[in-house]
Amino acid sequence: MAQNPFPIHGIVTRPAFTDREEEVERICNTLDEPGAKLLVYGPRRMGKTSALRVAIEDHLAQGGVACLADFSTATSHGDLANRVLTASTRALGRRWKDIVHDLSRRIGVRLEVSTDPVNGSPTASLGFGMRSTSRAAEQETLGRVLDSLDGLCEARGVSLGLILDEFQEIHRLGGEEGEWHLRGVIQHHQHISYVAAGSQTHLIQRMLGKGAAFYRLFDVLSFGPMDPEHLRRWVNDGLSGGGVSHQDMARWILALAGERTRDVAQLARKTFQLAREEGRADPGTVRQAFLEIIADESEPLRALWVGYAGTEEKVLRAVATGTESLMAADTLQRFGIASSAAASKAAANLVAEGVLVQEGPGNYRFDSPFQRGWVIQHALPDAGIHLPATHPVEL
Ligand SMILES: Nc1ncnc2c1ncn2[C@@H]1O[C@H](COP(=O)(O)OP(=O)(O)OP(=O)(O)O)[C@@H](O)[C@H]1O
Ligand SMILES: [Mg+2]
Repeated sequence: MAQNPFPIHGIVTRPAFTDREEEVERICNTLDEPGAKLLVYGPRRMGKTSALRVAIEDHLAQGGVACLADFSTATSHGDLANRVLTASTRALGRRWKDIVHDLSRRIGVRLEVSTDPVNGSPTASLGFGMRSTSRAAEQETLGRVLDSLDGLCEARGVSLGLILDEFQEIHRLGGEEGEWHLRGVIQHHQHISYVAAGSQTHLIQRMLGKGAAFYRLFDVLSFGPMDPEHLRRWVNDGLSGGGVSHQDMARWILALAGERTRDVAQLARKTFQLAREEGRADPGTVRQAFLEIIADESEPLRALWVGYAGTEEKVLRAVATGTESLMAADTLQRFGIASSAAASKAAANLVAEGVLVQEGPGNYRFDSPFQRGWVIQHALPDAGIHLPATHPVEL
């Protein structure tokens, strides 16, 4: 049976990766230019990490050295230092076997060495004894690691492209102080190019604003939605190429899933799964696929729901109906929200948590189309409102 043309687990690289030529080129150009600094930012699930990986592949193919350090799971600056160490020694270790020793001497600490299970090259991390309980000391270590990498690249006549993914974690872990410290370190580096990437758009914007630590340090690449026409063709071609006959089902898939690449790929993937056997898809197949995704994710979505405060639940119900004026008196009354101030506060929390996206004054929408569908299906009936889960799309 044909393989599903829409992989959604983890990052995708070519050939499943499509479009994003301009973005990949700008990232590549930055990796190519020692000392350059680029910040890539955009909403979640747009395909940032995939584009970063594809840029690394291109850069490696041209004989460059580059790596990606993922900050998403870090709980301290020591973890950040480790992420950078592991990724960079793996990348540089392909050329030089003595990289860990040299780096350890430059940093002035002993490094633990292990072997990369995939390519057998040595990778380094800070030894347990080197981890500190003080935030300032760990920040210092991260700075020393980066300075030492820059020095090592200079000595070896190589430049390193270093991508720091989920860069906004710097702020979460070290606040403004951590940001200023990092700026002080990386602004002088002439042998490393930095690509920082982040997804909490408001946080990243604050980090770049006037008077903020990274003001004017980075060039900026806003990572927005793909061209909808390209996305539509890609989905239609993927379905047809996999042996599913249909008439422009991408139209419905995009209407239901919105503009985030992953959401579109997820709905296309499920539609393909349902249609594969019969070899054909119609709007009913897309509807069924949407409902099945909501059912698959029902437990985590329910767990999220019970974690919301009372007013937040009411706001989510109101937004799920598609209201464009959350603060209007009749909306507040219909959903039992005490006041417009209460609605506005709850909505602001939900935006900060990444559940809602603000479109305009009093106008919000769900970040995830599947969470919207779940709320319509499972929580709106509490307010006596019965709508199809696919609302507002009429299939
Ligand atoms: N250019 C692309 N071509 C095909 N599929 C893509 C592309 N970009 C993203 N996707 C789909 O979206 C999914 C998520 O992509 P990725 O993890 O790169 O996004 P992200 O913006 O880094 O997300 P997050 O904000 O969660 O880190 C991929 O697994 C894939 O299904
Ligand atoms: Mg990512």
